[in-house]
Amino acid sequence: MKLCMIGTGYVGLVSGVCFSDLGNDVICVDKDLKKINNLKKGIIPIYEPGLEELVLKNYKNKRLNFSTNLKESVKKSDIVFICVGTPTKKNSNSADLSQVYAAAKEISKSIKKFKIIINKSTVPVTTGDEIEKIISKKVNKKFFSVVSNPEFLREGEAIRDFIYPDRVVVGSNDSKSQRILKNLYSPLISKGAKFLSTKRRAAELIKYASNAFLATKITFINEISNLCEKTGIDIEDIAIGIGLDKRIGSRFLRAGPAYGGSCFPKDTKALVSTADKFKTNLSVVKSVIRSNDLRSDLLSKRVSLILNNKIKNKVVSFLGVTFKANTDDMRDSSSLKLIPFLSKKGAKIKYYDPTGSKKEFKKLKNVEFSNSIQESIKESDLVIIHTEWNDFKSINFKKFSKNKKLIIYDMRNIYSPKKIKKLGFKYFGIGR
Ligand code: UGA
Repeated sequence: MKLCMIGTGYVGLVSGVCFSDLGNDVICVDKDLKKINNLKKGIIPIYEPGLEELVLKNYKNKRLNFSTNLKESVKKSDIVFICVGTPTKKNSNSADLSQVYAAAKEISKSIKKFKIIINKSTVPVTTGDEIEKIISKKVNKKFFSVVSNPEFLREGEAIRDFIYPDRVVVGSNDSKSQRILKNLYSPLISKGAKFLSTKRRAAELIKYASNAFLATKITFINEISNLCEKTGIDIEDIAIGIGLDKRIGSRFLRAGPAYGGSCFPKDTKALVSTADKFKTNLSVVKSVIRSNDLRSDLLSKRVSLILNNKIKNKVVSFLGVTFKANTDDMRDSSSLKLIPFLSKKGAKIKYYDPTGSKKEFKKLKNVEFSNSIQESIKESDLVIIHTEWNDFKSINFKKFSKNKKLIIYDMRNIYSPKKIKKLGFKYFGIGR
């Protein structure tokens, strides 16, 4: 099939590249000329394991192309995916849909024969109705169908998640597009992905409700971990104990810092805002947002306690600053609160991240990037393991650290407390 992806961010680029790898002809469109020229040279704008290889392979065999010309690209395609950003509006919790609507307007100028317009951007319920309205100002309704097909890709695991999804959700009010999309996704369905057809509005809500539910699960285990810390229980036992109940499930029960990233914080707020619009009180989601907002302060306080409230001039090594492992994404990472807090209190911070130094910390006092784990921890009083990169899972603390009284604060519960204590170091984890 001939596909066009509008927007080469996470969703558009990963989905476009994967669709081309499944044998479709795909054009990825973006306004940003530099980005498009770079992509043609195989330079990828985001850190995503495996993506570069797939771009090079499919660009070389000409199933994948890049363009800044939206009109021409839409004309050549049977299916057009809208994959633009829906950030939180300034001074409000609702999603800014201006890029989605601008894309719809542009698409409407190039429809001469039947096309399916798929919205893959994360959008509030009824956005599809609005897209349909915008396009129908220029195009007769029999020449297009607007579909919602949300994505469930995780950063760092996006290619795997695309190829082996738990489910493919297609929200459409007509059976013709359902049929065409089932065919498009058939290589994934034959490998075991469930195909779910719903009404368009339902698909839009499935996306938000999924993210809000996962955020709730994480927040729940994070709060239980606070109780574990007070009662001498290891949260890992609790996560296993409750996760074995199939009704609960074991995934997304890893206690840690506040959840971050480009999706959960933004989407939970947007869901509450949509519900407000429809006069519905989502009190659970509201509590989740509040609890997560407060979590970074709680962890900052714990760091202070670990250092006996003597933070000034302490050397703190921070391992991993992104919102999670296998990404270079800093959006809503709890390090953006923890590192400024420590810097303000007079600590000397040496941070290391496998994806390099970060502009967010450039102007902070006493915060510097280290080129290796060893360099970061050799003079440290306290090591904070903030993300769960494999690189951090078997550090030889004895060899790397000159400090016999080293303290380790393992925010991802990677290490066995017993083993670290055996080495003679103090160990703190989350909920243990
Ligand atoms: C999330 C969803 O998992 C995807 O299904 C969805 O498609 C995506 O948002 C999106 O809407 O685009 P992502 O933000 O990439 O994906 O990352 P996750 O792996 O879900 O992690 C989000 C945050 O939760 C991170 O801060 C992570 O450290 C935290 N987390 C996750 C935990 O603290 N504990 C867990 O058990 C799992």
